[in-house]
Amino acid sequence: MNFTFHQLTVFVEIVEKKSITKAASSLNLTQPAVSIQLKNFQDQFDLPLTEVVARKLYITDFGTEVYAIARSILQEASSIEHKLAERRGVLSGTLSISSVSTGKYVLPYFLREFLQQHPAVDLSLDVTNRDRVIQNLKNNEVDFSFVSILPTGIPLHEETLIANKLHLIGSQDAKYPSTHLQKKNFFKNLPLIFREEGSGTRITMQRYFTRERIEPRVRLQLTSNEAVKQAVIAGLGFSVISVLSLKNELQNNDVRIIPVKGFPIVSAWRLIWLRNKKLSGVASAYLEFIRAHKKTISRDYFSWAEKY
Ligand code: PGA
Repeated sequence: MNFTFHQLTVFVEIVEKKSITKAASSLNLTQPAVSIQLKNFQDQFDLPLTEVVARKLYITDFGTEVYAIARSILQEASSIEHKLAERRGVLSGTLSISSVSTGKYVLPYFLREFLQQHPAVDLSLDVTNRDRVIQNLKNNEVDFSFVSILPTGIPLHEETLIANKLHLIGSQDAKYPSTHLQKKNFFKNLPLIFREEGSGTRITMQRYFTRERIEPRVRLQLTSNEAVKQAVIAGLGFSVISVLSLKNELQNNDVRIIPVKGFPIVSAWRLIWLRNKKLSGVASAYLEFIRAHKKTISRDYFSWAEKY
């Protein structure tokens, strides 16, 4: 065996990205350079690591086993660097968080100063769909998850960061039965845009309709907040969305909040972690930072949202 760290890094990236082109781009290498590294790595084994079927790259069972070992070798290697930094009294390590998609409008502001104060801390932030976030949490793959709706059946700790207000929004010139704002039949025939199945925003919206015994008219289902906003702005329908994701659209008067009964629906953005989890030094330091600074951060970055 005569492989290099570089080959391990390249191989891990290829497996995670499931593509040589994507691995090349995330490693800032050319595609031929990545292919050569893969070939040199492969040459050291009698069994194939990958195979190409119909121009698609697949990882063999053997490749998957090698991947798991390569990944843990790389993690161990990076923990050597972190140990060294610890000895020098520097907070070092990786802070890993997986966040539901709407969290991208909120969480970066609660990370900024912490990362500035601790330049030796690496951040691994995955903004993804809610099912995956809960899976990451259950599998103990992250320090924290960032959600507004708590998953059920998992023993958790939580730290609330800021209120999450969801409003019904429409385009500036949207027509709606303004005399029925306080009535249940306001929603009759109102074209609604829903987020995808499993989204926290959608769960909140559905709970509201179930509670109010309203049969919503779903015109469209879209997989991101940005897609929902564009569809609302274009006048395709109305939707329910977190006000924290609407800063620009409200300032530019692209959308308007419809003051219908029962809204805003208020929940909270929170960091959650497994109850029996032993937090790493970096994760504990981050939690301490959040407890000490969350009020100031909310005031500095989100006071614009208070009036809605
Ligand atoms: P979502 O989650 O981005 O998946 O809709 C938002 C939330 O949990 O409130």
